[in-house]
Amino acid sequence: MQSKKMWEGRFKKALDSKVNDFNSSISFDQRMYKEDITGSMAHAAMLGRQGIIPKEDSELIIKTLAEILSDIESGTLSFDPEAEDIHMFVEAELTARIGDAGKRLHTARSRNDQVALDTRMYVRKHLAEIKDSVLTLIWAIEKKAENHLESVMPGYTHLQRAQPVTFAHYVMAYAQMLMRDVTRIEDALNRMNYLPLGSGALATTTYPIDRESVAEALGFDGVMQNSIDGVSDRDYCLESASILAILMTHMSRFSEEIILWCSSEFGFIELDDAFSTGSSIMPQKKNPDIAELVRGKCGRVYGSLITLLTVMKGLPLAYNKDMQEDKEAIFDALDNVKLCIDIFTQMFDTMTVRVSVLRRAASKGFINATDCADYLVKNGLPFRDAYKITGQIIAYCIDTDKTLEALTLDEYKSFCPVFENGVYEAVDLMNCVNGRKVTGGPAAVSVRKQLDDCIKFLNDRK
Ligand code: ARG
Repeated sequence: MQSKKMWEGRFKKALDSKVNDFNSSISFDQRMYKEDITGSMAHAAMLGRQGIIPKEDSELIIKTLAEILSDIESGTLSFDPEAEDIHMFVEAELTARIGDAGKRLHTARSRNDQVALDTRMYVRKHLAEIKDSVLTLIWAIEKKAENHLESVMPGYTHLQRAQPVTFAHYVMAYAQMLMRDVTRIEDALNRMNYLPLGSGALATTTYPIDRESVAEALGFDGVMQNSIDGVSDRDYCLESASILAILMTHMSRFSEEIILWCSSEFGFIELDDAFSTGSSIMPQKKNPDIAELVRGKCGRVYGSLITLLTVMKGLPLAYNKDMQEDKEAIFDALDNVKLCIDIFTQMFDTMTVRVSVLRRAASKGFINATDCADYLVKNGLPFRDAYKITGQIIAYCIDTDKTLEALTLDEYKSFCPVFENGVYEAVDLMNCVNGRKVTGGPAAVSVRKQLDDCIKFLNDRK
């Protein structure tokens, strides 16, 4: 089939139908219908105000665009797959409804302008929604941490038990990463919030347009200062995808912990039944599919970032059709990140922390060995000597299947006469944790401070 095009005037032949399909973006850019219509309404209003088109036409265009919007939303108007893209579709529908007035809408504007505007507004909206989702997740982490200021667990390096921390301290590490993600999103939103419309195809227009008033009407902080950049810039897509990739790295690491923690080997948490799945063959299985999918979807978000970077890297200024490839990549990243954060939040919120298992794990693995060495240091030994003596004590404990808490004072003294009863206090797990009360430490007082700062961060964004 051959289709009619708005730009067909110059052409002697109709577009080949395969080329038409290849060229078309309506199947994926239709989701920007609202941005396209609101952008056109602001443009039409400005054209009317500036006397570029008759006031009556401007009013009729705006009224009809509002009707088209509500018809799309109610399902009475469906997207025509034959339309090349959402911009052409809306304009064609407008013209079908009001004739010549509709044909005046595209005065002093180009499609390069429109796609730059619509995509920017779409990304702006959805990135802000992701920010809200991340804030909700941070609230969930903060809330859970409140209940676990004293829940001692092992902290790890090299996935080997290292030093005691608390569950609150542990999960708040993720809240810190997510708070940085939030501020990265805020920075990007500020940077992208400039209006490209008015750039024209690339060199603006001779009509006396008023870009500033359009910027204000559409919630932008100002207008882009170079028209060639205005239609060529996709930095905001690259930046958003980078931010989302980093955010998903955090989500993937957190998911990995959840997956480990609900294994029988760890048993630190139990996921709610509503957020786990069974096996088709093994009746005993309760699988952390949600966390695994979040970890897996991290891959496609990285993929989107690489797609976008690669599409853009060799493009001369200004618009090139390659840029149509930006949409599916950024849409997919936005869609999947939102899905992941929202479902992860519910999974996290409903999981049970097994405090006694955490505690048991903390009591194995000599995670208080540093504190034993520090005890000797506080009693006058140089750290390296204290370290060596403690190493010998640990070897002895391993051979005799004992813990530092269980050694007698005589046993301690056989390694170093400096040991006194105070060593038991020093190696007590809760003391080990609460002794680390410097800023950023696992002690309940330090984590309390962390939680208060986090609450302030969240309240400032309410
Ligand atoms: N569908 C196009 C895109 O997504 C819209 C811009 C088309 N402009 C052009 N001159 N062909 O990039």
